[in-house]
Amino acid sequence: MADQKEKAVLAYSGGLDTSCCIKWLQENKGVDVIAVVGDVGQEHEGLEKIKQKALKSGALDCLVVDMRETFAKEYLAKALAANAMYENKYPLVSALSRPLISKHLVDAAHKFGAKYIAHGCTGKGNDQVRFESSITMLDPDIEILAPVREWELKTRPEEMEWAQAHGIEVPTTKKSPYSIDDNLWGRAIECGVLEDPWTEPPADIYTMTSDPMQAPDQPEYVELTFARGLPYMINGDQKSFLGIIYALNEIAGKHGYGRIDMIENRLVGVKSRECYEVPAGLALIQAHKALEDLVLEREVLHYKLGMEQAWATAVYNGQWFSPLKEAIDAFMASTQRCLSGTVRLKFYKGSCTVVGRKSAYSLYDYALATYDKDDAFDHTAAKGFIKLQTLSGKTWASNRRQEGAPAELFDAEKQQGPLKKGKYEDVTPLGKQVVAEAEAVLA
Ligand code: ARG
Repeated sequence: MADQKEKAVLAYSGGLDTSCCIKWLQENKGVDVIAVVGDVGQEHEGLEKIKQKALKSGALDCLVVDMRETFAKEYLAKALAANAMYENKYPLVSALSRPLISKHLVDAAHKFGAKYIAHGCTGKGNDQVRFESSITMLDPDIEILAPVREWELKTRPEEMEWAQAHGIEVPTTKKSPYSIDDNLWGRAIECGVLEDPWTEPPADIYTMTSDPMQAPDQPEYVELTFARGLPYMINGDQKSFLGIIYALNEIAGKHGYGRIDMIENRLVGVKSRECYEVPAGLALIQAHKALEDLVLEREVLHYKLGMEQAWATAVYNGQWFSPLKEAIDAFMASTQRCLSGTVRLKFYKGSCTVVGRKSAYSLYDYALATYDKDDAFDHTAAKGFIKLQTLSGKTWASNRRQEGAPAELFDAEKQQGPLKKGKYEDVTPLGKQVVAEAEAVLA
């Protein structure tokens, strides 16, 4: 009789955690494991080597999938259309790769008739939510296993010992003190000394960007040409979107551009200190926004800002395959139809500045904008415009004055001025102390 074991498809990275996951799943869940390795442009030791590691760790099979082209075309392209930045800072590096990897996990589960999909995420991060939400929305019948959330291997030495006892290859080089996740959009670095928000990130956490102080002394200009919201030429050379990302990672990285150091609100309710480097991603978003400033009609542009936040939050929270995200994508796509043109960027010692933009669809009208003799703007129309624009506020102000409302209501300075001696009373002991210290300095 053939093997009757159930199967589990595992998102495999080649690291110690997911290698242990293979054996742990076999032992504790009695399943056969099929490993799936996704190449999303991360640094790796070689895909064939990772595959051999999976097989040596006991996997029944290991699929290696080059996802880079799809990642660029279907995931990063949508992120760019949405100028996606979670909390206005983080361009969603990890959050963008999880749904794509999930799609391949679900495909593999169908191919192998697997009942389970497993991942190696801890119980504290966003990535577990992204994997599980994505998988569930793609196939609600698949059951999820998360060994790292369940097992008793609390510390790294414990895990190494367990691995050794189970014939799993244990890394010989010293493990980096950081937790790193990377792909072609960028790198996320957390843990170690970064857990103290007051500590400056050590220079060695960055690999995609050089130290701005060591960057070239000459600025470098880059021209990006877009069609329908997506760049297809860099300095006049036609390239795929993937090719442009690679080229721009080089240039921006060389000039030390793309570093982020932030406190971030995770979906699970924790604030965490995160460092990122997103050289091409940040430069592209900046250029893309500059072109939108030129081309999008004002009301669309303003409304889009809110939609961009909604998009970024949804994707951050694992809602890539949700109907909300799909609906917002349709809005974004509509805004990108005429987004063609060229943007000129200047990279210099850690900065990237937009220094020029042009488009056949530009709504910038020189005759309306100029202050010189060619001015075609109707200045006399402004009077009536302002009269109606201010009518509602005027009605309000007249009413309040007539009813004798106290002047403080109108005076922000009187309502709550800057800190003055004896004026502030704080409620908590710490608050009292802080105010006392501030007053002492002011005295
Ligand atoms: N905080 C980022 C996010 O939630 C990065 C996560 C990186 N993941 C990791 N395993 N280090 O998207």
